[in-house]
Amino acid sequence: MPSALVSLALLAGSAFAQQQNLWGQCGGIGYGGPTNCVAGSCCSTQNPCSSTNSGPPIPAGSLQQVNSFGSNPSNIQMFIYVPNKLVNNPAIIVALHPCGGSAQQWYSGTQLPSYAEQKGFIIIYPQTTAYTNCWDVNNVGSLTHNGSGDAAGVISMINFTLNKFSGNRNKVFVMGASSGGMMTNVMVGSYPEYFEAGASYSGVPFACLYGSTTPPSPSGSNQTCAQGLTHTPQEWANFVYNAYPGYTGKRPRMQIAHGLDDGLVRPVNGWEQLKQWGAVLGLTNTYNVTGASVPEGSEYIQVVYGDGSKLVGYMGQGVGHWAPVKEQVMLKFFGLL
Ligand SMILES: *[C@@H]1O[C@H](CO)[C@@H](O)[C@H](O)[C@H]1NC(C)=O
Ligand SMILES: *[C@@H]1O[C@H](CO)[C@@H](O)[C@H](O)[C@H]1NC(C)=O
Ligand SMILES: *[C@@H]1O[C@H](CO)[C@@H](O)[C@H](O)[C@H]1NC(C)=O
Ligand SMILES: *[C@@H]1O[C@H](CO)[C@@H](O)[C@H](O)[C@H]1NC(C)=O
Repeated sequence: MPSALVSLALLAGSAFAQQQNLWGQCGGIGYGGPTNCVAGSCCSTQNPCSSTNSGPPIPAGSLQQVNSFGSNPSNIQMFIYVPNKLVNNPAIIVALHPCGGSAQQWYSGTQLPSYAEQKGFIIIYPQTTAYTNCWDVNNVGSLTHNGSGDAAGVISMINFTLNKFSGNRNKVFVMGASSGGMMTNVMVGSYPEYFEAGASYSGVPFACLYGSTTPPSPSGSNQTCAQGLTHTPQEWANFVYNAYPGYTGKRPRMQIAHGLDDGLVRPVNGWEQLKQWGAVLGLTNTYNVTGASVPEGSEYIQVVYGDGSKLVGYMGQGVGHWAPVKEQVMLKFFGLL
């Protein structure tokens, strides 16, 4: 829809129009009141929402592709699931597929759409077909705030969705498995101001593949990261700080899940993610929980940082690649359940 607002310049011709009170409405679709401003004042835009809610309507209740959503430097695709029972000011979850996956595969691959229906949140399913459908977690563009690459395209999708559905900027989340888990780390590292929290299943730390020039698949020729690249907590944190120099705002909370029997993306990557976000969030491993009371399942060790509300790890005995998505545990961590 076009802007509902009219500027003083457009109204200059209506010399005989009645004068509006200071702070009164002076234009807009269907408006028939006074359009003349009090001397010394001017008419300005109050609510730009209608001008940004652009493009065709998006049907609810099924996976839909959005063709035009803003800047998209690496030409990735946007799909979205809008629930039939959308709440006002909805939360948004970005759900990132694994290597070889797709939006459709990841839409069918978790129970998140049925939770979206119950709770009224929106799910964005970005899709890449580059690098055998792996995310560009190695390129400096994605590892830089306001850079380029897949990360910039995903940010455009979020911005589009926030505008189109009056989404809740304080309730934007990101999750993914394998390459999607790696990209989850990239998104929260490069764009901390966008996300309240992230959940990475069988991913790697932010910038673990930085410097790798071959396709960023965990089965690719450069195995340095997948086999377990280690750094000190401070070194890992520095990669994150360097992505957005000078940023002092809030950092996203993180939930990390990883299989201890993962032969593709080695479990050390789960531990290293915890080291990295522990350093960034200023938290240390206070205690662990084992056994029946572990929310992720008794096969997991729950690794608690601080009080567990900002950083928690689940490292699974006998769990391979990728660690299964536990929707309820994740949505509780996000504060959506
Ligand atoms: C990043 O881009 C956004 C949107 O264009 C802009 O509002 C913001 O100021 C930029 N941030 C930096 C640090 O350049
Ligand atoms: C967000 O969307 C608005 C409205 O469509 C647009 O003006 C702005 O440039 C977008 N910002 C980013 C960072 O994409
Ligand atoms: C392999 O990847 C690592 C990062 O994971 C990088 O530091 C290294 O330079 C890469 N090696 C080659 C030969 O590209
Ligand atoms: C939690 O478990 C890990 C792995 O066994 C161990 O290295 C770490 O020291 C434990 N943390 C605490 C606080 O006991």
